[in-house]
Amino acid sequence: MNTGPVGIFDSGLGGLTVWRELRRQLPNEDIVYFADSRNCPYGRKSAGEIIALAHNITDLLLTSYGCKLIVVACNTATAAAIDDLRQSYQNPFVGMEPAIKQAALNTNTGRVGVLATKGTFDGRLYKQTSRKYANDIDVMVQIGDGLVELVEKNEYESDEARKLLHKYIDPMLEHSVDQIVLGCTHYPFYKPQIEAIVGSRVTVIDPAPAVARHVGEVLFEQDLKNAEKRAGADIFLSSGSIEPMQVLLTTMNNCGYSRRMVQVEGGQTYESLS
Ligand code: DGL
Repeated sequence: MNTGPVGIFDSGLGGLTVWRELRRQLPNEDIVYFADSRNCPYGRKSAGEIIALAHNITDLLLTSYGCKLIVVACNTATAAAIDDLRQSYQNPFVGMEPAIKQAALNTNTGRVGVLATKGTFDGRLYKQTSRKYANDIDVMVQIGDGLVELVEKNEYESDEARKLLHKYIDPMLEHSVDQIVLGCTHYPFYKPQIEAIVGSRVTVIDPAPAVARHVGEVLFEQDLKNAEKRAGADIFLSSGSIEPMQVLLTTMNNCGYSRRMVQVEGGQTYESLS
C-alpha cells in the first residue's frame, strides 16, 4: 500500500487522454499530470533532447510530488526515453505501446493504418512491435504532422483539423485498412471526427484504456495501490501557459474531482487556480 500520487507526463495536452482513463479506472489514486507545453511538440526532436526533458520532468515528479509510478503518456517520449528512464530511476515506469498487436488480431482485410509522429516510427519499440505482431499484415504508416499543435491550441475541431485528417485518413481508406491505430496520445481528441470519416467498418484504436489497465496491474503487483476509500485528487502542471489545459479539461467531463492547476517555470511552481 502506498498513498503517493501516480505521476504522468506528455509533451503537452495529449496525455490527458490517458489521464482520463486513469481517473476512470483508478478513482481513488491521486494523480499529478505534467504537460511540457513549452517544449511541445516532441515529434521531430532528437532522442537526446527528449531524454534530457524526460529526466527533468521525472526529477520534478519524484522530488516535489513523491510520485510512486510514472506514466510516460507520450508515444514519442516512450520511444526515445523509456529505456534510459528505467535504467536511471528505481520507481516503475509505464510507457505507451503502439497498439499494433490489437490491430493485427482484429483485422479482416489484413491491412491496418498507424498514425503517429516521426519519433515514434523511428524508435526501436515501434519496429520491434511491428516485427513481432504485424509481419504478415500490410501496415500503412502516416506521420500526423500538425495534429499535435492543433490540440495544444484547442483547435482540434477546426476546418484546418478536418482538412489534415482527410489528408492522412483518406489514403488509408483507399488502401482498404479496417483498423486505424492512434499512435500519439494527442490523437484520441480527434477520434469522433476520424470515426465520422471512416464509418463503421473501420475500428479506430485508442490504447489509453489498455495502458490504464496496465498501470492498475503494476500498482497491484508492486503493492503500490492506494487502499484509502476516498476520491483521488488531481494536480495539473504545465511548463507553458495553463489556460489551454484548463479549457480542454472543462470539455472532458471530469469535474467531480479536486483539481489544482500549477504553472512551472525553471523548476519553480506558480499556483494559479484551486
Ligand atoms: N502526445 C505525444 C505522443 O504521444 C505527442 C508528440 C509530440 O509532441 O509531437 O507522441
